[in-house]
Amino acid sequence: MVETLSADFFTDPHVHYRRWREHGPVHRIRFPDGVERWIIVGYPEARAALADPRLRKDIVHVDGLVRAKRPAAAASPLSLTLLTHMLNTDPPQHARLRKLVNKAFAPRRVAALRPRIERITDELLDALDTGDRVDLLRGFAVPLPITVICEVLGVAVDDRDAFRTWTTDLVGVVGREAERARATAAMAAFLRDLVQAKRSHPGDDLLSALTLPAEDGDRLTENELVSMAFLLLIAGHETTVNLIGNGALALLRDPDRLRELSADLSAVPDAVESFLRYDGPVDLATIRYTAEPVRIGDTEIPTGELVYVSLAAANRDPDRFPHPDRLDLSADASGHLAFGHGIHFCAGAPLARLEASIAFTALLKRFPDLRLDIDAADLRWYESTLIRGLIELPVRLRP
Ligand code: HEM
Repeated sequence: MVETLSADFFTDPHVHYRRWREHGPVHRIRFPDGVERWIIVGYPEARAALADPRLRKDIVHVDGLVRAKRPAAAASPLSLTLLTHMLNTDPPQHARLRKLVNKAFAPRRVAALRPRIERITDELLDALDTGDRVDLLRGFAVPLPITVICEVLGVAVDDRDAFRTWTTDLVGVVGREAERARATAAMAAFLRDLVQAKRSHPGDDLLSALTLPAEDGDRLTENELVSMAFLLLIAGHETTVNLIGNGALALLRDPDRLRELSADLSAVPDAVESFLRYDGPVDLATIRYTAEPVRIGDTEIPTGELVYVSLAAANRDPDRFPHPDRLDLSADASGHLAFGHGIHFCAGAPLARLEASIAFTALLKRFPDLRLDIDAADLRWYESTLIRGLIELPVRLRP
């Protein structure tokens, strides 16, 4: 029988993944919108699937498949105009789009942002320090990456709050179509205006640079440019926030680990890898479809099926990571799939790693006695299959 994704899935998906994994690496699951999709939960199968050219991403094809499986689904021409970005395209189109931003996010270019990120971090912690009981997400984990990505892209400070509201609606659970449609329309209008403004008054930012032809003469179309801005902003808004949030929660729930890390801040970059492995910000990687039959374990998935890879489940596969449900800061977390794998491996990984390392170093240096100020069972999580993240994280900064 096909299992339906239950409401408690979002509070702790790992309970479900553990149970599914015992019955095989891939499962057919019914989503809240009534459409059945496959979810891969085993580590080797997940890693192989992420790099498998038979599992494709072209958004027009995916959209057609969803509508065929759920005829009542509304046509979504508007959202498709925002979604023709690299994460939704296949070779050779994918390489063309990715090449245009690869340089901007290369480790050396990103390292040059360190002093600015450290300054933003210190300012946020100064402001946080005026309270005793604070929401670490609202006061710190949210504004830090959002400020950084907006500065990189050249988005004005005043627009940041509106943008955050739209992005949280957009990553919401499959099924809340009205909220998503409203957020999509608002975001599309905002991005079109922004791109227009960059064309007429270019600044010293990435979006302005993308309006110009590349060295080889390649130039993005209007739709590609708007989609690119959308991808970079949303990736910069909803992911690093939850790396800091989920990582902080993991430490707060395990005070010995928090003390261990506060006592040796040189271990922070490795700890960030452990946070990514233990409870990374992306649960299900973005959707793929089978362009031909694909065998995974003992299961053959036919052509034209929708497939998700659970990065969260793969990162807790006990055959790959011993004692996966424990946050062990000294264990080797390398090989985790939190940033994906293959041609779509996260372009922003160097930036995310740098921001998180700076954030945890500064936070633990200033507040080594940080503690959770809510019963962990009362924490609320976003009802999203894409993003694994808390709605708020109440903490006390001092004993
Ligand atoms: C901790 C933070 C982050 C995590 C965990 C993360 C995770 C991921 C994952 C899993 C993918 C691949 C999805 C798939 O294959 O279905 C991806 C792709 C991508 N990410 Fe990130 N991301 C993070 C931060 C960022 C940041 C800060 C940026 C930059 C603005 C960024 C930009 C991108 C882009 C452009 C892609 C598409 C790459 C492609 O299709 O070739 N990400 N990310």
